[in-house]
Amino acid sequence: MTHPLVQHKLSLLRDETTGSKEFRELAAEIAMLMAYEATRDLETETVRIQTPVAEAEVPMLAGKKLALIAILRAGLIMADSIVRLIPAAKVGHIGLYRDPESLNPVEYYAKLPSDIGERRVFLLDPMLATGGSAVEAIRTLKERGAQNIKLMSILAAPEGVARVQSAYPDVEIVVAAIDSHLNDHGYIVPGLGDAGDRIYGTK
Ligand code: URA
Repeated sequence: MTHPLVQHKLSLLRDETTGSKEFRELAAEIAMLMAYEATRDLETETVRIQTPVAEAEVPMLAGKKLALIAILRAGLIMADSIVRLIPAAKVGHIGLYRDPESLNPVEYYAKLPSDIGERRVFLLDPMLATGGSAVEAIRTLKERGAQNIKLMSILAAPEGVARVQSAYPDVEIVVAAIDSHLNDHGYIVPGLGDAGDRIYGTK
């Protein structure tokens, strides 16, 4: 997204002097602005209402309801802010850890809306780095019947975008920015560091 507001807030988010409180606020605001863009294609239907002045035909959301799926733990900040914008959305969670030997993501938790197959799914992870977690989460979502999935990440590395696109070409990816590359530790460069640690003040 090239929107100046998003890019300005993202620059503040990247800055290492930005503390947890401001980081959380900025990440939530960016997620909301991204949701505005990512929901541009939602269907509407015309309904008749009465304003205090006259009868009017007005657009209201129609079609499939939404499911917001947060990849734990950093994805929580995005789900919490987007659900304020779209209160009818259901929120699910997927937890993954990295197997110390294979380095592959392993799912330890998945609580998803039971009607996920009937919903448009927004998978939320602020950092799309190697793409390993996203691919694993998408596999789980599809296994449970999800058909319409958009992945929303604040920052992405080209490697992660390519991996998701090659595994699941049907999944649309919405990002605020794509950075240069991953470093040897799997961090996005220049990136913003560990999103979970910066949100929750851990290290
Ligand atoms: N996860 C993060 O939080 N930061 C990165 O740079 C890569 C993965």
